[in-house]
Amino acid sequence: MERLIDRFGRRITYIRFSITPRCNFDCIYCSSHISERAKSKEFNLDDIAFLFNTASQLGIKKVRLTGGEPLVRKDITDIVKKIRVNKEIKEIVLTTNGSLLKYLAKPLKEAGLSRVNISLDSMRRDIFKKITKRDEFNNVIEGIKKSVEVGLVPIKVNAVLMRGINEEDVIPIVELSLHYPIIVRFIELMPVKGDNFWKDHYMPFSEALNIIRGKYKLIKSKGAIGEVADYYKVMGSKGKVGFITPVSQHFCSNCNRIRITASGKIYPCLFSEEYVDIWESVKAKRRNELIKLIKRSVEIKPKEHGPIELDDRVFIENMRELGG
Ligand code: 5AD
Repeated sequence: MERLIDRFGRRITYIRFSITPRCNFDCIYCSSHISERAKSKEFNLDDIAFLFNTASQLGIKKVRLTGGEPLVRKDITDIVKKIRVNKEIKEIVLTTNGSLLKYLAKPLKEAGLSRVNISLDSMRRDIFKKITKRDEFNNVIEGIKKSVEVGLVPIKVNAVLMRGINEEDVIPIVELSLHYPIIVRFIELMPVKGDNFWKDHYMPFSEALNIIRGKYKLIKSKGAIGEVADYYKVMGSKGKVGFITPVSQHFCSNCNRIRITASGKIYPCLFSEEYVDIWESVKAKRRNELIKLIKRSVEIKPKEHGPIELDDRVFIENMRELGG
């Protein structure tokens, strides 16, 4: 089998794929601008089957479906089934805001989904609504419970840290890991193009760690190989607590991923300006051309991205298209 290895010897085995830029939330930290043209550009089921059949021949072992909100696609369970038929792909996971999981967790599990990451930035209904602009807190909690029940585990809950907005939620979110087998991960806020939000609300993970240590004793814990988070455990808890630190300490040296946007652009890094466009080759089902383009995206993968705090040019162009 062919393999994808970049100029720095990193083997690429993981594709993050935004299946739609559409979302049923409107979170304050996400870029809300999205052009009409980008909105309508999505691969169909046949395209996705072709894309991942090709990728599986290049040594891709893990696929993450993101968005936008991936569960707004009506064919989401079929998408999972189409990717599942490739035996080389060992893991299919999904990042979701959780609002539709109470209906979809079971059919997704049956379709072959391995597990889910759920974004949840507050345990207070009013603050949740302020962040997402939707009154969906209770649905998300039901979605998390349903996912535990049907075995989409281990479930990861992602919370973006925002100074002045959700410091008070740090402890209640950690407490989700006490009684459920949930891996809670706090993510440092990343800058998205065209706003001052980041400057006002960025909070380094060390502050959250201090807040947690004020109430609980944490012990160091291991994550899976190639994980982007540092893990801890509250003594006696069922789950774990982790920190994803794209801003204060980057984890580029063991990066194993590329990202495909809903409109068919491969970004070799979340912060890349350079991309490779696979839309036409996928649409026309030109396999050799697609293989060349995927290889090209790995060839241009940068060694690392610059320090985010010091460099205004380092920002994310469009979170909804790129899928975080
Ligand atoms: N900074 C940090 N995390 C973000 N996410 C979306 N936008 C940002 C941002 N600006 C997170 C979502 C989700 C994951 C895919 O990315 O909350 O958990």
